[in-house]
Amino acid sequence: MSKIIDALNTQINKEYYSAYLYLSMSAYFSSVGLPGFASWMRIQAKEEMTHAAKLYDYVLARGGKVVLKAVAEPPASWKKPLDVMKAGLEHEKKVTKCFNDMTDLAVKEKDHAAQIFLSWFVSEQVQEEQSFGDIVNALTLINGEGQGVLMLDRELGARTFTDETQTAAG
Ligand SMILES: [Fe+2]
Ligand SMILES: [Fe+2]
Repeated sequence: MSKIIDALNTQINKEYYSAYLYLSMSAYFSSVGLPGFASWMRIQAKEEMTHAAKLYDYVLARGGKVVLKAVAEPPASWKKPLDVMKAGLEHEKKVTKCFNDMTDLAVKEKDHAAQIFLSWFVSEQVQEEQSFGDIVNALTLINGEGQGVLMLDRELGARTFTDETQTAAG
């Protein structure tokens, strides 16, 4: 199998891990009485599944073989909401690195189609880091406690799901 197809298969697994991680974070937020944060994370998990599907479809479109591996177990508990969002941001930074590395590989292999395909994910990661980063900043400003957290919870609860992979730009 080509190196690119191999890397894309690994990334399918990582996107499912992201979904699993965010679902676990959503459960944590539900358990501490923050339904808005929980809903935001649940939507985030759903978005990660669409990323996996986009990679899956591309592997098939290129005549590659989709190989699904076991999804690792995510952490199940955190000390406080700020820790969760910081862990989410760190996770997204790792994912960004994966897409940058894959793009480097596509350049090296002179695989232009893969480069164009991967560019969607490279831009998507800018948004992903930004949305986690914004919440980390907001929580830091309010010291992660008090009335501010409840206001933020209400704000995050307003997020709705859109499948970005199905829009014109996707
Ligand atoms: Fe993703
Ligand atoms: Fe993500």
